[in-house]
Amino acid sequence: MKYLGIVLCVALLAIHAKSAQAVCGYESCHETKSNMVNIHLVPHSHDDVGWLKTVDQYYYGHKNNIQHAGVQYIIDTVISELIKDPARRFIQVETSFFSKWWDEQSETVRSIVKKLVNEGRLQFTNGAWSMNDEAAVNYQSVIDQFTVGLKFLDDTFGVCGRPRVGWQIDPFGHSREQASLYAQMGYDGEFFSRMDHNDKGRRMNDLALEMVWDASESLDYTKLFTGLLYTFYWDTPGFCFDVHCSDDPIIDGDSYDNNVKSRVDDFIAYAAQVAEKFRTNHIMIPMGGDFQYEDAEVNFKNMDKLIKYVNERQTSGSKYNIFYSTPGCYLNSVHKSVQSYPNKTLDFFPYGSDTNSFWTGYYTSRPTQKRFEREGNTILQVAKQLSAFAELSSAQQKEDLEYLRQIMGVMQHHDAITGTEKQAVSDDYDRLLYDAIVGGANTARDALRKLTNLPNGEFESCLQLNISECAFTKDNADNVVVTLYNPLAHTSTQYVRVPVKNENYQVTDEKGRVVASEVVPVAWQVLALEFRNNDTQHELVFEASVNKIASYYIKKVEKAANEEESKLKANAETYDDDETVVQTSLVKLVLDNKTGLLKRVEMNGVSENIDQSYGIYRTYDSGAYVFRQYNQGDFVIQEDGVEFTVYDGALVKEVHQQFNEYISQVIRIYEKKNYVEFEWLVGPIPIEEEFGTEVVTVFSSGISSEGVFYTDSNGRELIRREKDKREDFVPELAVQPTSGNYYPITSRIALQDSSKRIALLNDRAQGGSSMKDGQLELMLHRRLVRDDGYGVGEALNELKYGQPMVARGKVYLILNAADESTSVEREAEKEFHLPLWKFFSQNSGSSSSAAKSVPSFEDFPKSVHLLTLEPFNDDEVLFRVENFKDHIEGKVVSFNIRPIFDYLNGVEIRETTLDGNLPLSDMKRFKFHAEGSGARATEAEYYTSSHKPLSANGTQDASEFAVTLYPMQIRTFIIKIK
Ligand SMILES: *[C@@H]1O[C@H](CO)[C@@H](O)[C@H](O)[C@H]1NC(C)=O
Ligand SMILES: *[C@@H]1O[C@H](CO)[C@@H](O)[C@H](O)[C@H]1NC(C)=O
Ligand SMILES: *[C@@H]1O[C@H](CO)[C@@H](O)[C@H](O)[C@H]1NC(C)=O
Ligand SMILES: [Zn+2]
Repeated sequence: MKYLGIVLCVALLAIHAKSAQAVCGYESCHETKSNMVNIHLVPHSHDDVGWLKTVDQYYYGHKNNIQHAGVQYIIDTVISELIKDPARRFIQVETSFFSKWWDEQSETVRSIVKKLVNEGRLQFTNGAWSMNDEAAVNYQSVIDQFTVGLKFLDDTFGVCGRPRVGWQIDPFGHSREQASLYAQMGYDGEFFSRMDHNDKGRRMNDLALEMVWDASESLDYTKLFTGLLYTFYWDTPGFCFDVHCSDDPIIDGDSYDNNVKSRVDDFIAYAAQVAEKFRTNHIMIPMGGDFQYEDAEVNFKNMDKLIKYVNERQTSGSKYNIFYSTPGCYLNSVHKSVQSYPNKTLDFFPYGSDTNSFWTGYYTSRPTQKRFEREGNTILQVAKQLSAFAELSSAQQKEDLEYLRQIMGVMQHHDAITGTEKQAVSDDYDRLLYDAIVGGANTARDALRKLTNLPNGEFESCLQLNISECAFTKDNADNVVVTLYNPLAHTSTQYVRVPVKNENYQVTDEKGRVVASEVVPVAWQVLALEFRNNDTQHELVFEASVNKIASYYIKKVEKAANEEESKLKANAETYDDDETVVQTSLVKLVLDNKTGLLKRVEMNGVSENIDQSYGIYRTYDSGAYVFRQYNQGDFVIQEDGVEFTVYDGALVKEVHQQFNEYISQVIRIYEKKNYVEFEWLVGPIPIEEEFGTEVVTVFSSGISSEGVFYTDSNGRELIRREKDKREDFVPELAVQPTSGNYYPITSRIALQDSSKRIALLNDRAQGGSSMKDGQLELMLHRRLVRDDGYGVGEALNELKYGQPMVARGKVYLILNAADESTSVEREAEKEFHLPLWKFFSQNSGSSSSAAKSVPSFEDFPKSVHLLTLEPFNDDEVLFRVENFKDHIEGKVVSFNIRPIFDYLNGVEIRETTLDGNLPLSDMKRFKFHAEGSGARATEAEYYTSSHKPLSANGTQDASEFAVTLYPMQIRTFIIKIK
């Protein structure tokens, strides 16, 4: 209450006395001087949405013994300081914290804050729900979390609340897709502060800290100005005025300790040093750091003095001009200065902070939480679509959906999905996400009661199907209905697995037709998991084909007399003494009978020797962030001694393999499916007192890839990687040759030669590489003994149920001819990212028909992805479509969205920027000149929409609703409904 009191009383005075001109945005920026070095002093606070403390502990300033930090006080005191002087500026970055604070404010405080925003004194920057990671996140979730953050700002402040620049100052490496998304949201540029030390060194020398990022190989309108901060995002060395720091304050007046001269000398010397490294006569000096400004008066009082005394020198000929600014105002000055910048095309992975420290461990750290986040995304998309179709409108339903959106925003934070937080914080993320998923699943259930013929269905979700556990079927699966929801636009055919007892079942579809099914045994290693309830030991498998919603009915039947007891046998077909062959009509696997390993795969008309096994890095000082090899000899790939059994079913063939006491897997091939599934089970990982263990799966082939491989960028475009090479500099890899070649694999890694190609797809983000020609590896799990010294202060040593964490997941292999389109990989990627969600109900007899039907998107071209469909405002629905094929795989597609508009009872439709909050016709963003791209214009340039934004109402002809999508293009629409 203390701070609030100050805010109120100062504010009342301020509202009359200290008013700036009522303009926001770039017009509110302070004047600059063309003949001087303009120093943009940028007050900011970096407020992690969880790291050493939980989100709420940070917000409330709780547990200050762990870390002194309280975001509510930061915002309180910053507001009261901004009020005192219209010259002052502050940027607010994390919207999750701001919205929580806002909810607690009185109308008086709110109106003061609105005024500050409307006058450009408080500028939202970045503005997403959290400052998301860029390695482990999927683009869909980044778009969603920007949509949530920017929508809050738009609803609360209107256009003056809209951030203009990206501010990703802490994430540990930067993705090209993030830059592309910024451009598509209409941002003018982005800033960050972590880059490989060699890259940064070179850029310092070449005046290349600022660049134009050509952020897509398929889209031509995603060029984005990108700037690296001169130092790290913390304050200027020696000038941290925060209560957390002990640098000298500025002492003026007639004190014996008066230090104005020396402080100003030092500051100007520093500014001169910075100015040498930038192309215009503007420099940005951030003033802030982690959780700074909790007592903002100290910061502003000293910055006021710094500004005053630095500028005073101008009368005696100084050419330094300093003022309060923001990243937006700095960028505006740079834009007006009309310069040329180097071109950047790939990305900033991996981040090497020194020769022994590549931040590539976090690509894999906390694998179960990384997977849980993906489950959260699937149910979020399912719940959004269903809410819109069923027109759910109760307060509870809206609240539950919004909570899931927000928690998914929290999960994208660069200490959440990355696994770089303390264990207690990770546990708290699990708690938040679990609650949010339950709310989302309830919302989906409510919708399904309206949209299916089971108005009283339970529609329960089972979150432990990965270990074949489901409370709904644990005693009995007789008379169970499995309702499948497909979040994709096109009909998807997938195999469904339901935990059951070893009994006979018949599965029928909605029309009463019998669907082929079989009961398969669960791997004994799964049954043996101590924490698993051993109610069921089998899974009922059947193939389901789902447009949007489909129900399948399970009934127990008597066992046919001639049925075999179990088809699990030691070996299937043994061609000679050495080989075991397992095959479907599309895929053939050959196992080496001696080593127990996979040795050959045949599919898509291609045969290739592929050895698949597990490797173990024995590491000494790896941590949550850094994967650091101790000794290059400490990497062992298991080459034999693998025990295996084969299950030879009609629909699915499985090879169950045991590699060692803590690694096992099931290789699966399904009838009619053109991929091989590897379901791994790793843990409890043993460690030695001094050494940690990091487990990878390794696929070795004879494909002569010549050091080249491809990795996805946040689940969208692929980036070509070359072993030991970088785009703009020579990396130092002598100390960490493997870690320095690791890249984030969010969805896919591939390699090829002139005839064959292999791709691995995964079910969560992982680190991966190709250290030898023809070889791909993915890191699956890590258990470590030391902290790596970047602040988290704990060894990554996850324990669950009283033992080291066990993780399970899937990797999929696709082998194809090199000249075949990679479209099949894309299509598989969509299916793995957004699989059918299973809802379980008791079959208690169904009513005749559903209250409402669900639309079909089947008419959309095959390469169109239903990226988002969700309630936006009470009378608005957000609809986002993407052409998910790139410029090599796909082509321009056109289709009409009038049917979906009509289904939703649309009245009007407008097109917006990617985040849904800005009319696309209003989008006008900075264009910067890239070196080598023709002549530079003499005046500042802008981009506007590259196509005519769609805008129509229900009375207009259907032709007005035609949508064209270029490869990789995303278009976002808001449909106003009756
Ligand atoms: C699980 O239950 C099955 C069937 O009752 C039994 O054969 C098996 O030993 C049990 N496994 C464990 C780990 O308890
Ligand atoms: C190979 O498979 C055959 C037939 O299943 C089996 O008898 C033999 O023991 C296996 N050989 C080895 C080395 O495991
Ligand atoms: C940037 O470089 C890429 C690759 O060399 C090139 O294709 C692209 O046209 C360049 N962009 C500009 C703006 O010069
Ligand atoms: Zn951070």
